[in-house]
Amino acid sequence: GKAYKVAVLPGDGIGPEVMAEALKVLDAIEKRYDVTFERTHANVGGAGIDLEGRALPETTVNICKSSDAILFGSVGGPKWETLPPDEQPERGALLPLRKIFGLYANLRPAIIFPSLTSASSLKEEVISGGFDILVIRELTGGIYFSQPKGIEGEGRDRIGVDTMRYSVPEIERIAHVAFQAAQKRGRKVCSIDKANVLSTSVLWREIVIGVAKQYPDVELSHMYVDNAAMQLVRWPKQFDVILCENMFGDILSDEAAMLTGSLGMLPSASLAEGTFGMYEPSGGSAPDIAGQGIANPIAQILSAGMMLRYSFGMVEAADAIDKAVAKVLDGGYRTRDIYQNKEGEKLVNTREIGDAIIAAL
Ligand code: NAD
Ligand code: IPM
Ligand code: MN
Repeated sequence: GKAYKVAVLPGDGIGPEVMAEALKVLDAIEKRYDVTFERTHANVGGAGIDLEGRALPETTVNICKSSDAILFGSVGGPKWETLPPDEQPERGALLPLRKIFGLYANLRPAIIFPSLTSASSLKEEVISGGFDILVIRELTGGIYFSQPKGIEGEGRDRIGVDTMRYSVPEIERIAHVAFQAAQKRGRKVCSIDKANVLSTSVLWREIVIGVAKQYPDVELSHMYVDNAAMQLVRWPKQFDVILCENMFGDILSDEAAMLTGSLGMLPSASLAEGTFGMYEPSGGSAPDIAGQGIANPIAQILSAGMMLRYSFGMVEAADAIDKAVAKVLDGGYRTRDIYQNKEGEKLVNTREIGDAIIAAL
């Protein structure tokens, strides 16, 4: 059978707890399909700082480079928040990983599972019948990475500087990802910008309109980001693919996640040209619940499923994971973040819902 090399980077907080469940799912996939996942564990984030002296140790980068994909947990937490910004887990490890591996296309599918409509913070009539939104977030440009960046000057004269830049090729390539994704689903792209204020957005809109000409079967619309934040909670069913620059996508994807019931449900794929990718939950290390064994591992498990789908071409196995998750939710299994105390629901911990998903596989 085939063998794939996976770099496993659990990170901090709930990262290792939810990663353990995703690895159990990979074990189950190995048993059912003729495939081997050769896993190499590596330290990243706070774990990298504590064990190897830096957030992104060179050994970790090398393990990632010799792998077919990266399965990533989450990084960061109060323990490392007082370090110089560039040494902290987020800016010292997560953002460099995205840049080093050219992971410019971040896919965040926000799908409501039918049995979870009451876990959403929206009224049931707003989400009844479900919605299926794919947020496509540009991940290696914009205000996250552009220079100059930093704090200039001394004392009260200091100025914090961030710069937002987008080049034509950067906009073009992410627009192609969005239109091609839309062709395989609802054939609609809503491009988010702030073209009434930002120059990057003026260019963004112009280039997206140009790329759209190559996809006449896809309907393109544009929305200002402030309105988009409002429309998402007003009527989420109007959206199919949402295309955003880096920071807008960060914010809107957390919002879209909550519509599905919990941030702990939202997986993500960060893709480069070709088949290499990094797969991680959209949420963070959740310091408020870390160490208690109660985190929702579904985002991590679905992220592993996205790895099979996008990096390894294992569509059938990926579908099987999605179905197993749906079945377990239909069966009433709920971690605390999605528990409504309704009839038929069973409050379970991280390990128990992981076991149930494996049993459903
Ligand atoms: P967070 O996503 O960690 O937590 C926000 C809220 O969502 C918390 O109440 C948390 O308990 C809940 N939550 C998140 N994932 C959950 C899960 N799987 N199950 C149940 N509940 C879940 O965001 P934050 O509190 O703003 O940030 C905490 C730390 O995580 C920070 O250091 C931040 O920089 C980092 N972070 C890392 C990543 C990443 O590694 N990809 C992403 C976001 C935030
Ligand atoms: C995410 C996170 C990261 C981001 C942080 C931790 C740097 O919030 O993956 O959404 O802003 O991209
Ligand atoms: Mn985020």
